[in-house]
Amino acid sequence: MRVLGLAGSLRAGSHSARLLALAGSALPAGAELVTWSRLGELPLYDPDVDARETHPVVESLRDAIREADALVIVTPEYNASVSGVLKNAIDWASRPRATTALQSKPVAVVSQSPGQFGGLWAADDLKRILKITGARPLEEAVSVAQIDTVLPDGAPALQDEELHDALVAQLAALVEAAQTATVAA
Ligand SMILES: Cc1cc2nc3c(=O)[nH]c(=O)nc-3n(C[C@H](O)[C@H](O)[C@H](O)COP(=O)(O)O)c2cc1C
Repeated sequence: MRVLGLAGSLRAGSHSARLLALAGSALPAGAELVTWSRLGELPLYDPDVDARETHPVVESLRDAIREADALVIVTPEYNASVSGVLKNAIDWASRPRATTALQSKPVAVVSQSPGQFGGLWAADDLKRILKITGARPLEEAVSVAQIDTVLPDGAPALQDEELHDALVAQLAALVEAAQTATVAA
């Protein structure tokens, strides 16, 4: 089982990227996390460019999604929504609409922020965006509040057992959804 991971931040030492790595360790046996971390290399989505040329980084993203059985996406909250770089990547991946690599892909949504809601709005928006593309986000997102305390610099694990357990449960549900999708196909 191949799980593709995207982190919606370009920042060095990003909490999103660190959470994604933790998600990789929390996957059930037999599932492997493959991280695609070239969001910053994608051009801004332009339908004219998309229609005219094949961009290698865009193709890399679309192929990585196509080859995955499921996705984990970790987003920071930016102004009450997902980050722009993540939205841009999803816009590229969502086209061509009829053959999008995202079609029917199960997705685990994780959000984080230093605030008390853990990027709940970003998680809700991400689920809505993914549904529109044809992907299948799990209904239950994991939102990590007070990320600076829960995952301080240098910490090798989440400093909150309940959140760790929620992440493990979410990833188990993701793998189950991917297995069900494979059987149904
Ligand atoms: C442009 C910008 C907008 C932000 N907006 C919000 C926000 O609306 N709500 C919130 O809780 N945090 C907000 N934050 C804080 C980020 O969510 C927080 O720093 C997050 O941990 C960054 O993720 P990263 O470490 O993966 O880069 C914002 C940060 C930036 C840079």
